[in-house]
Amino acid sequence: MKTEILQQLDGYGDVIKEIEVLRKYGYDYSIDRGTIRQYIDRLHPASLDLKIVDIIEETPSARTLRLASGGYLPPFQAGQYIALTLDIGGVRTGRAYSISSPPNQTGYYDITVRRVEEGYVSSYLLEEASPGQRIVTSGPSGNFFFHPILHDRTMVLIAGGSGITPFMSMIREIVQCGIDREVYLFYGNRSDDDVIFHDELTEISSTFSNIHYIPVIEKPSRNYKGLAGYITADVLTKELRELSGKTYYLCGPPAMYDFCLPQIEGLGIPKKKIRREMYGTPKGISAHPGWPSGVKEDAVVTVLLQGGRTITASSGEPLLNSLERNGVIVPFLCRSGECSMCRVKLLSGKVFQPEGVLLRKSDREYGYIHSCAAYPLEDLEILI
Ligand SMILES: Cc1cc2nc3c(=O)[nH]c(=O)nc-3n(C[C@H](O)[C@H](O)[C@H](O)COP(=O)(O)OP(=O)(O)OC[C@H]3O[C@@H](n4cnc5c(N)ncnc54)[C@H](O)[C@@H]3O)c2cc1C
Ligand code: FES
Repeated sequence: MKTEILQQLDGYGDVIKEIEVLRKYGYDYSIDRGTIRQYIDRLHPASLDLKIVDIIEETPSARTLRLASGGYLPPFQAGQYIALTLDIGGVRTGRAYSISSPPNQTGYYDITVRRVEEGYVSSYLLEEASPGQRIVTSGPSGNFFFHPILHDRTMVLIAGGSGITPFMSMIREIVQCGIDREVYLFYGNRSDDDVIFHDELTEISSTFSNIHYIPVIEKPSRNYKGLAGYITADVLTKELRELSGKTYYLCGPPAMYDFCLPQIEGLGIPKKKIRREMYGTPKGISAHPGWPSGVKEDAVVTVLLQGGRTITASSGEPLLNSLERNGVIVPFLCRSGECSMCRVKLLSGKVFQPEGVLLRKSDREYGYIHSCAAYPLEDLEILI
């Protein structure tokens, strides 16, 4: 049966011929068995055991954790993230964090965490994580990086708050490795005393003529001299002048993404020129288009798991959070509805999945949902 399937693969005949030649001349090809697996495991490990070796306080609400393995770290592309798994207050959970150090720095990964109001993991990482602590993470993941064939040499980077981190990795790599690319960085923040990496970005943009740094502050202080307000279509047009021939990258919390994406699209930028990384699921889910008017966020529903166990969940919270709080382990990576790692099968009941959740067609057809971005609207039965 296995041979029949293999015979249908392209190149199968050539591989068999090659093996016959090796046999004829006495080469034992079986000694290479497992070599490819070893390469894959080294380049794309499922998990890493890292240690916090340093902590750098960046702003009143953000800090960088420097993570090292004490040896080899898999390579990554500037823009990728790692997912941390933590045990906080007896709950096994985790979150994704983009790597803010550049890929040419191979000794450590930096992640830069900004506090989210009442945030479970960000508060822990800002207040309790300390040097010497070990943290299990995924290997580097994600597709939010520059592709030399598909993307334009001129990059327009639009960041909100903590969304600066993948761009910091990209910019550091460009300037440190002398890469021939032009960057326009629009960086939106609420106040000017809380702009992560401001001094470094100011220094880089005054030294390198290919890096343009445009901070935009929502509520600036009296002495602030730069652009105030939001990153609007108007701001982009004035600063860029020519909009075509550029690839646009958008990264930040869902609220910033919801505001900026229509601004960019409104300028007539084609969808294929816009790349995005959304930092989590939306806040205040019941205000989202499509949320059924009769369901309150604090409604409590039951979730029946295989094996007959029942747990409770809240409608206003992603199903994955409720599962974790009850000690149910579901694999995850992005926790923003994009990577499919947290898929579970919905056997009965209804969930709300906001627009932007990237469910595969086959998942939709066979009743799978992304538990990190699915909000239970009624009692559910699921298969993990
Ligand atoms: C690919 C990826 C990369 C990321 N990289 C970074 C990074 O480099 N630095 C960083 O600080 N964060 C980053 N995040 C966000 C991070 O994973 C967490 O979502 C964030 O730290 C909040 O987690 P929490 O447990 O503190 O908040 P939670 O307890 O999960 O959420 C509390 C509330 O805040 C809302 N919320 C979640 N995230 C944000 C946010 N970023 N801003 C505003 N409100 C939010 C939630 O919708 C929720 O209502 C990244 C997310 C993704 C998907
Ligand atoms: S963890 Fe990525 S889609 Fe849910």
